Amino acid sequence: MKRNLILAIETSCDETAAAVIENGQRIRSNIVSSQITVHQKFGGVVPEIASRHHLENLPWVVDQALEQAEVSFAELDAVAVTYGPGLVGALLVGVAGAKAMAAAQGIPLIGVNHIEGHIYANFLAHPALGFPLLCLLVSGGHTHLVALEGHGKYRVLGRTRDDAAGEAFDKVARAMGLGYPGGPKIQAAAANGEGAGIELPRAWLEPGSLDFSFSGLKSAALNYLNRAAQKGEEVNKSDLAAGFQQAVVDVLVGKTLAAAKQSGAGTVLLAGGVAANQALRRELGEACRQEGLDLYYPPVELCTDNAAMIGCAAYYKFLAGEFAGPDLNAVPGMSLA
Ligand code: KG4
Ligand code: ZN
Repeated sequence: MKRNLILAIETSCDETAAAVIENGQRIRSNIVSSQITVHQKFGGVVPEIASRHHLENLPWVVDQALEQAEVSFAELDAVAVTYGPGLVGALLVGVAGAKAMAAAQGIPLIGVNHIEGHIYANFLAHPALGFPLLCLLVSGGHTHLVALEGHGKYRVLGRTRDDAAGEAFDKVARAMGLGYPGGPKIQAAAANGEGAGIELPRAWLEPGSLDFSFSGLKSAALNYLNRAAQKGEEVNKSDLAAGFQQAVVDVLVGKTLAAAKQSGAGTVLLAGGVAANQALRRELGEACRQEGLDLYYPPVELCTDNAAMIGCAAYYKFLAGEFAGPDLNAVPGMSLA
């Protein structure tokens, strides 16, 4: 059988990543060069610095991906790249690099939506998944409930109206002095909290709405910190972290179950950086079990930004002949539709 080998590139935010994926399933290599330590001192990603680091890192990250996969440029069938959404300067580095590599080899170029890539991390981990599916996509930039009717066929049932779930984790962690990225720090602090921690509000929005809002919860956590500071009281960070995490998880789980019911999907997928959260995995798993739904999620290293997920999404576009032209450009505000 012909092996289909795709080199995938991801530079939408602060990870420079390249991977080689065989037949849309087998991860021959998956290299991620994280800039977390570079941006940590600023408390978040600085776009200009991110672009510069992508420029410096992309050549060796690609070399390493090919070397580890034991694949040469000449053996590749296509080059795939994330072209949105993300930071424009960061995306452009990957797009320009991928275009040059595809043109030099005379092979197809495939543009991939980063959000779609996150969803497809599930097809890498569980290739036999069948449709219809319902995916909760929770990352630093996005919070979406998506019904999948087939490869590339999406219906967005709900999305955040303000902060993304990961963004709320990051902002609250920063205010608590826990550092960046906030998700893993809050998860670790919450593990030492008392029970469900400090009670914070949950935004359910209008009855029946599958949209999210995390800015009120974020403000409530920040107000709690400010009030304590004004009174000179010490905040129990573990209890605050536990209360915040619980409020996010409750809303994510509640709305995901409602969306599964509405869409009629019997299988739920979890995707994006926040899908690495252990409390979310546990509680969504429990809720799905009670409702007779199957839940799948990728291993933690495929939840956060990586190029393997981009290569997997690209494979299905390759099969469908969906190729990009040399005019492919970065689309920083790209949506899923
Ligand atoms: O998907 P991702 O790597 O990048 C984007 O596309 O945004 O997601 C990064 C986000 C960050 O906000 C980070 O704090 C969050 O995922 N995150 C977590 C955890 N690990 C990463 N949030 C909660 N719990 C975690 N364990
Ligand atoms: Zn991402």
